[in-house]
Amino acid sequence: AIEQSLRPQTLSQYIGQDKVKSNLSIFIKAAKMRQETLDHVLLYGPPGLGKTTLATIIANEMGVNIRTTSGPAIERPGDLAAILTALEPGDVLFIDEIHRLQRSIEEVLYPAMEDFCLDIVIGKGAGARSVRLDLPPFTLVGATTRAGSLSAPLRDRFGVLSRLEYYSEEQLANIVIRTAELFEVEIDLQAAHEIARRSRGTPRIANRLLRRVRDYAQVRGNGKITILLANEALELLQVDRLGLDHIDHKLLKGIIEKFRGGPVGLETIAATIGEESHTIEDVYEPFLLQIGFLQRTPRGRIVTDLVYKHFQLEIPKE
Ligand code: ADE
Repeated sequence: AIEQSLRPQTLSQYIGQDKVKSNLSIFIKAAKMRQETLDHVLLYGPPGLGKTTLATIIANEMGVNIRTTSGPAIERPGDLAAILTALEPGDVLFIDEIHRLQRSIEEVLYPAMEDFCLDIVIGKGAGARSVRLDLPPFTLVGATTRAGSLSAPLRDRFGVLSRLEYYSEEQLANIVIRTAELFEVEIDLQAAHEIARRSRGTPRIANRLLRRVRDYAQVRGNGKITILLANEALELLQVDRLGLDHIDHKLLKGIIEKFRGGPVGLETIAATIGEESHTIEDVYEPFLLQIGFLQRTPRGRIVTDLVYKHFQLEIPKE
């Protein structure tokens, strides 16, 4: 139960994403005043920034139930039809990784989103006929790490498009402090900031690091998380000053050592370091691009001078 309650339950408890929050808060209030369902919402941005949490909060604030599924979990049109027909009026249907829905399933979703109905084909061949089934009105909340991979017709059916951004150090420190309170563990302000700085702008990472630092402080200290213990624990976790981990290092050093800093194609990098190209593109690259360590060029990825400085390497001459 504590794991569940770690997540903020209301917009006012939710730290950061101020633009997204103030927009949603208005749209939710307006829908409630009109006693209508909220328009469909698409949440997009890098993993770990709170898309699932926001979906839960939307349902909570609207006072409705949430039904959760994901793009890859829906294998046949019938799976989606079963979910849709089981909804109650006003419910939120949350589809995570919505960019991974098959096209044939997307097509079931279009009339469901637009007119709250399902077109079902009964029978085969010459005797086949189409039956229209009414659905309860609902709010689809879709989440994706790549808005660009959504088909245009699907993207166009969302009334609210919200992009989540990386969090500031201040916001992450506040999240760490909030979570520490829920854990009932004492933490220095400095230690909270150190964890925040090393969390790659991502609350999920901040809370994970906090758990590990808490373990360390419990075993090596007296339970209180001090800056000294936090630094020792983070060192042990191989999370560097900027929060870059083992895989970030492999990626950046791979480009430097094997490709003289680039340009090099994504698939080539993926093969040399043994990671999935999708994982690199969705999980690792966005933050490295954001902090200016990587650049995308038409001929591939290149590392910038900042990377050489970070690793204390000599910057190569042209
Ligand atoms: N825990 C994880 N993400 C959070 C957020 N954005 N606000 C408050 N607590 C959180």
